Amino acid sequence: MTHPRLRERFSILDHSTFLVSHSMGAAPSGGRQKILEYWDNWNNTGISAWDQWMPFVDECRRDLGQIIGAPAGSVAFHQNVSTLIHSVLGTFDWTSSRNEVLVSELTFPTLKYCLEAMSGSGLHFIRVPSRDGIGHDSSDFTSRITDRTALVLIDHGIYRSSALIEIPPIVKVAHELGARVLVDTYQTAGMYPLSVTDWGVDFAVGGSHKWLCGGPGAAYLYIRPDLLGKLRPQLYGWMAQREIFEFAPGVQPADDARAFMTGTFGISSLYAAKVGWETILEVGILSIRKHVLFISHQIIRLAQERGLKINSPLNDDFRGGQVCVGIENAREIEYLLSKEKILLDSRPYCGLRISGHFYTEEREVLTCFEALDSIIKR
Ligand SMILES: Cc1ncc(COP(=O)(O)O)c(C=O)c1O
Repeated sequence: MTHPRLRERFSILDHSTFLVSHSMGAAPSGGRQKILEYWDNWNNTGISAWDQWMPFVDECRRDLGQIIGAPAGSVAFHQNVSTLIHSVLGTFDWTSSRNEVLVSELTFPTLKYCLEAMSGSGLHFIRVPSRDGIGHDSSDFTSRITDRTALVLIDHGIYRSSALIEIPPIVKVAHELGARVLVDTYQTAGMYPLSVTDWGVDFAVGGSHKWLCGGPGAAYLYIRPDLLGKLRPQLYGWMAQREIFEFAPGVQPADDARAFMTGTFGISSLYAAKVGWETILEVGILSIRKHVLFISHQIIRLAQERGLKINSPLNDDFRGGQVCVGIENAREIEYLLSKEKILLDSRPYCGLRISGHFYTEEREVLTCFEALDSIIKR
C-alpha cells in the first residue's frame, strides 16, 4: 500500500522513523534542485529573473488551487496564515453592528491571537465550546450564528485531537444569516480530499509545511471568486496592483486574488513548496487518504493494546490524519523517541501526535511502539 518508488525521493526516511507529517512533512529531494533553479535564475539573469518568477507564481496558484479545489485566480500566497487571517479580517467593518466572529475553543492558537489582537477595532470574538474537548458537531456553530455574526472561523481539522468539522451545514446557515465563513485547511489539505468550491466557503487558508511536504513560508488564501472585486483589502501593497509596473498614483487592486498579495513575494519558499504540491498531485489525494487511514488504524490498535487512551475520534469519517495518544509526560517521551530518530510530536491536552503519510510503512509504526514500550518500562 505504500509507494516505495516515491519513498526514495525523501532521504530523511532512510535514517529516521518518520511519523510527524501532520506537523512537518518530509522534504522531497526534488526541492533541493528547485531551490538551486531559483538561485540560478537570480544569479544568471539578475533583475530579469522576475520574467521567470512572475509566471512561476501563477503556476503555483494553479497547482495549489488543484489541491484545494479552487480556480487559480482565487488563490493568493503569503508567508504565513496569521498574516492571511489579518488580511481577511481587514475586509470587514468592525465598527458596524455585525462585528462578531465565532471560533472554536480548540482552534489553533494563532487564530485566537489574531482575533484578540484585533479586538481594539470593535471586533468581538466568541469562543465556541466543545462538548467533549475533542471536536465539534456543526450545530455548535450553527446554533450561535445570528445577525450580529460577521465571520465563522473554522479549523477543518483540530490540531490537538485531529477531529474534523463538517463544513457545509455551517456555510448554509452562515450564508442564510448573512455571515461569511473562513476555513483553516492547514491540518487537512493534501491528505484529505476537499474542495473549497464544493463547500461554498468564502475564504480558506492553510500552509504547505505539513501534509503538502512543501516547507515553511508558502501559506495560501482562497477567496470565493464572486467576492473578488467586492472586497477591498486593507493589508495592501504595490504587487497587488492591477498593473504592477504602471506605478499608478492610487490603489487599483488586481481583479483576482493577487489583490491580497501585498508586496514582493517570497519566491524561494514557493520554489520549494511547488515540488511538494506536485508530489501530492502525482500520488493523488484519495490514495493518500486511504493509506493514511490504513496507518492510523495500526496506530490506534497498537495504542489500545497498551491500554493508552485515544484522544481523537475513533470513527474514520470524523478523524483527520494524525492519531492523538494520551500518555503522561508526552513531551519527555517525544524527546526520548527523537533521540532514537523516531519523529513524532506532542501537544498539551492531547498527548503524542502520531501519523503516517503516503510514504509511511507499517513497520515504522511498530518500531515506534516497541521503542515506547522500552521507555515506559524504564
Ligand atoms: C490549523 C493551523 N493554522 C495555522 C497554523 C500556522 O499558522 P502560521 O502560518 O501563521 O504560522 C498551524 C500550524 O502550524 C495550524 O495547525
